[in-house]
Amino acid sequence: MDTFEAISTRRAIKKFDPNHKMTSEEVDSLMKLTILSPTSYNQQNWRFVTVTDQSIKEKIGVAARNQAQPVDGSLVILLCGNMSAWKDDPLRYWKNHPTEKQELEPLWKKNMLTVLRIEEMRQFVLVDLQVKQ
Ligand SMILES: Cc1cc2nc3c(=O)[nH]c(=O)nc-3n(C[C@H](O)[C@H](O)[C@H](O)COP(=O)(O)O)c2cc1C
Repeated sequence: MDTFEAISTRRAIKKFDPNHKMTSEEVDSLMKLTILSPTSYNQQNWRFVTVTDQSIKEKIGVAARNQAQPVDGSLVILLCGNMSAWKDDPLRYWKNHPTEKQELEPLWKKNMLTVLRIEEMRQFVLVDLQVKQ
């Protein structure tokens, strides 16, 4: 299919056949394509939770303001993000950068440490609040 045609014929699907079940091969093929999506600094800090259990899909349907799509669709994918992924050895994002960009590293490092300190303080305050309650 041509890219222009694919974009202009795409539609949000509102009704699903509750009797249709996707095969695990179909789910695998979709997930393999899904993880080709780009992420900032190629962090791939996504986590996908695939849900096929009917009772869990029904609970998701309630959480989605009683919409039928999650209940009737064969597969529901919860897209989660690891918000702390950047803390895992963050300097590795810079190691292949051209020299002129690496010169910015100390500045970036300083900012990163500030963010870490703010986060530590936030956690300290939260712990403190828990102790006081
Ligand atoms: C961020 C976002 C949230 C949406 N949430 C819902 C939703 O909760 N239920 C639903 O039926 N459609 C939802 N939609 C689909 C929109 O209703 C749909 O994209 C819009 O009506 C345009 O139709 P089209 O995508 O077929 O062009 C959502 C779309 C976006 C982008």
